[in-house]
Amino acid sequence: MKMNNQDVVILAIESSCDETAAAVVKNGREVLSNVIYSQIELHTLYGGVVPEIASRKHIEKINQVIEEALRQADKTLKDIDAIAVTYGPGLVGALLVGVSAAKAISFATGIPLIGVHHIEGHISANYIENLELEPPFICLVVSGGHSHLVKVADYGQYEILGRTRDDAAGEAFDKVARAIGLGYPGGPKIDKVSKEGNPDAIHFPRAKVEGSVYDFSFSGLKSSVLNYINSCEMKGIPLNVPDIAASFQKAVVDVLVEHSMDAVEKYGFQRFAIAGGVASNSGLREAMKKACAEKNIEFYHPSPIYCTDNAAMIGVAGYYEYIQGTRSALDLNAVPNLKLGER
Ligand code: KG4
Ligand code: ZN
Repeated sequence: MKMNNQDVVILAIESSCDETAAAVVKNGREVLSNVIYSQIELHTLYGGVVPEIASRKHIEKINQVIEEALRQADKTLKDIDAIAVTYGPGLVGALLVGVSAAKAISFATGIPLIGVHHIEGHISANYIENLELEPPFICLVVSGGHSHLVKVADYGQYEILGRTRDDAAGEAFDKVARAIGLGYPGGPKIDKVSKEGNPDAIHFPRAKVEGSVYDFSFSGLKSSVLNYINSCEMKGIPLNVPDIAASFQKAVVDVLVEHSMDAVEKYGFQRFAIAGGVASNSGLREAMKKACAEKNIEFYHPSPIYCTDNAAMIGVAGYYEYIQGTRSALDLNAVPNLKLGER
């Protein structure tokens, strides 16, 4: 085990969905390496992530990715203070690969193990490039699997203010992209093609969820886009893909901005952050930047590489858990539906 205790160096592992990733993070804010093996091409063939294929690919790649992360950081296991690993939420077979690898290294070396919540990782991605950012703040986490509006009261202390009642924001992007023939993964493609479209061309609904101001619902919007496409096809009207993409994107962004700004106002925080794959959406970033500027709120977002799944964000979250004394036992298991703030 490591002798010099001045710096805290974390080896982080992430395998909750279709990225096999490992990273080395120093003192919670400095990324020494961030290796991501993306399986996207493999799953594109099927139009979405196939869980069994994801697990098999993780097994094939995990050791290589971990070794590469250590090599790029110029570290060996002797330099590592703790191993942080995503143990939920996510695909159970995929999570198990990372969790098993982390446990095996911990067992063989005696390096402490820390199970990290995937969403806590996404939120923590904001700490990497914004050294001045500290809690409290409101964070909107929007990815392929999650849409959460979170109050970050302190490091490791979260309160979920709102969540999606049906599809996640990224899921809506992916489904609409498929319907208009853009393919998988839909988010980046809709983002790109939207730039050539008119966001006000078609009015799609901005759903409100009864009884909860901060919850989201995207399935109605998705159905509305599908109905619009069907009606165009029945009337023989050619689809204007850029207009549909831009109008759909605006409908999603409007709701995300409105809910987020309501929460910022209610809690009176001076800082607001976005996280998750959809946080790299250019329309969302622009709209949030503008809305925050109008309210005199500091706006934070990670670079795109830290928005989509990566292990650096797990290393950052793992660091704050580590200094607060969190340790996981070797019976750590994958928890596919792990709730934020639960252990
Ligand atoms: O965070 P992430 O890599 O995985 C999950 O934890 O789910 O997010 C992936 C999601 C996908 O649905 C993808 O379409 C979406 O993020 N995404 C985007 C953009 N880039 C990725 N959505 C909208 N605009 C983008 N530029
Ligand atoms: Zn994610």
